[in-house]
Amino acid sequence: THCILVGAPVDEGQRRAGCLMGPAAYRVAGLARTLAELGHTVEDRGDVAPTHTRDQTCANPAVHHLPEVIAWTEALSAAASAAMPDGLPIFLGGDHSLSLGTVSGVAAHAKAAGRPLFVIWLDAHSDFHSVRTTTSGNLHGTPMAYAAGRAGFEPFPPFPAPVPGENICMFGIRSVDPAEHASLEETEITVNDMRVLDELGIAAPLRAFLDLVRAQNGLLHVSLDVDFLDPSIAPAVGTTVPGGATFREAHLVCELLHESRLVTSLDLVELNPFLDERGRTAKLMVDLVGSLMGRKVFDRPTRSF
Ligand code: ARG
Ligand code: MN
Ligand code: MN
Ligand code: MN
Repeated sequence: THCILVGAPVDEGQRRAGCLMGPAAYRVAGLARTLAELGHTVEDRGDVAPTHTRDQTCANPAVHHLPEVIAWTEALSAAASAAMPDGLPIFLGGDHSLSLGTVSGVAAHAKAAGRPLFVIWLDAHSDFHSVRTTTSGNLHGTPMAYAAGRAGFEPFPPFPAPVPGENICMFGIRSVDPAEHASLEETEITVNDMRVLDELGIAAPLRAFLDLVRAQNGLLHVSLDVDFLDPSIAPAVGTTVPGGATFREAHLVCELLHESRLVTSLDLVELNPFLDERGRTAKLMVDLVGSLMGRKVFDRPTRSF
């Protein structure tokens, strides 16, 4: 696979500075080397930088850094749709507001290619606020709703090709605000919260969703938020929530994603290297990408799912 690294040092989607150092931390932690050792070719396109911001306002007084986040959305959407025809883009965040842009660009590409887009959201949070409903005002809590075509994103460019709810699957969810909950109830999105994972494990629900993607010859975008992981193994994130995915669960998800051969783009988001302990979270994220891109202990015949 030709892997295209795209740095997205976005910090304006939340209030704790540090995510802007994420792309550098992934590079220092050896992401390119890890991919190359697995036999992939790697192209690092450097960091995206928005060229200009326009004055933009919205009715919700809590919202902050709206013009900056819109500028990032436009720049990252362009970078994503430019990268898609060339290989598998890996977007190095940056806070989760970067997915407003990356999923836009991927969706525009999917539409042009005439293929349906599917999204796997690995996160403690559903990120299903609109610009109108967010009470924290942190736009990193909104990208999934934007991609699903929800109302309330007036200052943003219209989402190019909204992803149908049946094509969206969330894992690891354990923190959902009331407005997000109400909005999610109106959709067909599959929310695999920790209750589901505790009872069924992560493999069965993931395989069921991958079957859908395969049956429709879909493109598959994976968005991996550091806080999907339990804070005990991944402390470098501003929004820790206890009870997250374990080391083994996270690697299993990545191994199953690799075996499926279905992933066509990937976000790595919310890493805040300023909060890390000797780079352990950055290294874990790089190891997870290794599993997602084919690292395994023993080769087994791919299970036909
Ligand atoms: N729901 C909360 C909010 O809107 C938390 C969002 C956390 N999102 C994230 N990408 N870490 O503020
Ligand atoms: Mn700021
Ligand atoms: Mn998130
Ligand atoms: Mn999160």
